[in-house]
Amino acid sequence: MNIETVATQPFSDQKPGTSGLRKRVTVFQQPHYLENFIQSTFDSLENYQGQTLVLGGDGRYYNRQAIQIILKMAAANGVGRVKVGQSGILSTPATSCVIRQTGAIGGIILSASHNPGGPDGDFGVKYNISNGGPAPEKVTEAIFAHSKTIEQYKIVTAPDVDLDTLGESRIGEMVVEVINSVTDYAKLMESLFDFEQIHQLLTGSFRMCMDSMHAVTGPYAHAIFEQRLGAPAGTVQNGTPLEDFGGGHPDPNLVYAHDLVAILFAENAPDFGAASDGDGDRNMILGRKFFVNPSDSLAVLAANATLVPGYRSGLKGIARSMPTSQAADRVAEKLGIPCFETPTGWKFFGNLLDADRVTICGEESFGTSSNHIREKDGLWAVLFWLNILAVKQQSVEELMHDHWQTYGRNYYSRYDYEGVESDRANTLMTNLHAQLPTLKGRKFGVREVEYSDDFSYTDPIDGSVSNNQGVRIGFTDGSRIVFRLSGTGTQGATLRVYLEQYEADPTKHHLDPQEALADLIAIAEQVAQIRTLTGMEKPTVIT
Ligand code: G1P
Ligand code: ZN
Repeated sequence: MNIETVATQPFSDQKPGTSGLRKRVTVFQQPHYLENFIQSTFDSLENYQGQTLVLGGDGRYYNRQAIQIILKMAAANGVGRVKVGQSGILSTPATSCVIRQTGAIGGIILSASHNPGGPDGDFGVKYNISNGGPAPEKVTEAIFAHSKTIEQYKIVTAPDVDLDTLGESRIGEMVVEVINSVTDYAKLMESLFDFEQIHQLLTGSFRMCMDSMHAVTGPYAHAIFEQRLGAPAGTVQNGTPLEDFGGGHPDPNLVYAHDLVAILFAENAPDFGAASDGDGDRNMILGRKFFVNPSDSLAVLAANATLVPGYRSGLKGIARSMPTSQAADRVAEKLGIPCFETPTGWKFFGNLLDADRVTICGEESFGTSSNHIREKDGLWAVLFWLNILAVKQQSVEELMHDHWQTYGRNYYSRYDYEGVESDRANTLMTNLHAQLPTLKGRKFGVREVEYSDDFSYTDPIDGSVSNNQGVRIGFTDGSRIVFRLSGTGTQGATLRVYLEQYEADPTKHHLDPQEALADLIAIAEQVAQIRTLTGMEKPTVIT
């Protein structure tokens, strides 16, 4: 084996964010950029030599080139075997599944999730550990530390591997195994859900539309919904992964999944619509002319979990990220199980899941999943909804209204201000911080501030502390405003403002959330001076 040791110099910007290292494709294409980060990752791991690694991505531009580089570096660094998804395709949840099932030491996922792809788009690299979940902060910090002092990396000189043909080949000593991207994941889904019942639903009068947004879930959705569960051909749209996601923004929300929204809000709309993101870990659920807020979706799955075979014996607990609405807390209370509040980002759920303290987790950002893997899982959520609907024989809207009737409704909305100049965004957050000590007791119309802080989290399992996880202003009536800056953007800063208000009275459950939250929105503006400081009249995305 011809191992080359290449001299390099550190890049100063390789600090992983909320979900791995994300940069413009052009940044990753700089000589040594990807190599430095991958070598820093290997250098921060222990005892990986001779072990198995899982590798794949969401199919975006530069996926194939990056896989060839990583395979040659893995061989040079002594990895024993790499399981790589066919054609370089492995969704984030499927990677987590394969890592767990094969007892791999970890995995590398090439994705910038819901960020646009293509030569001018984004690329990303994420390292997952042996439990199948995102590397915790101590690992990402170690990678970053190595990236700041790196002087060389190792790579094998070898021809490219054929990524399209299933089977084994070798780079030097290392085995490269090209695996079917879907098989293991589909089997896991079949073990959790009542496929027979869902099959009956999908082959009756019920109609669904799944939008894979030209991203990674296409092959999974075709195989599971159409081939395995018998939904008519055409149920899955935009089901072929494209390097630039067809020019779209593969984020399943009301703005970017507009094609699906148009179908579900048209006359004669199907009963059920769903979309997933670039790497398949997010989901959006729609009923006929009805949007399910992701925080509500988490609550509904938790409340109905025992209808689903994989969760028949009940839930140990629920976890949600801090900005996610407290709808799930109400379900947990009723079930008599704990509800944990963690910082934003899936990595914070890992310890709770590993310790079996929670079964289901979710984030307001269209992410839900359970202890079956250690990532959020878009198609899992879709199957979970279908299983519940098949059992209850209700429409999505009826199910949601029944839920609110039982638990009350948490009106909720998130405002995103994307592409704000970083200095302006930092000033806004600094100003908010300065006000924190003075807000308690202050009245805004009928609302009075009960607490204001910057969220800190102490992990109940390993005691690690994460500070500065978002500014919270809570009112005595239970309503909340949360402000934080995104940790996943690649251009300027993104300000996120989260608004929540609880309504117990069923006669008031039919409002438009924007109407119900209008005065909170005005308070957010008053306190944070969003328009003046961002220079933006309105948010770029409202969820
Ligand atoms: C966003 C979401 C967060 C999610 C992350 C990765 O992070 O808000 O919930 O875990 O993407 O998908 P943010 O950009 O807010 O840091
Ligand atoms: Zn994603």
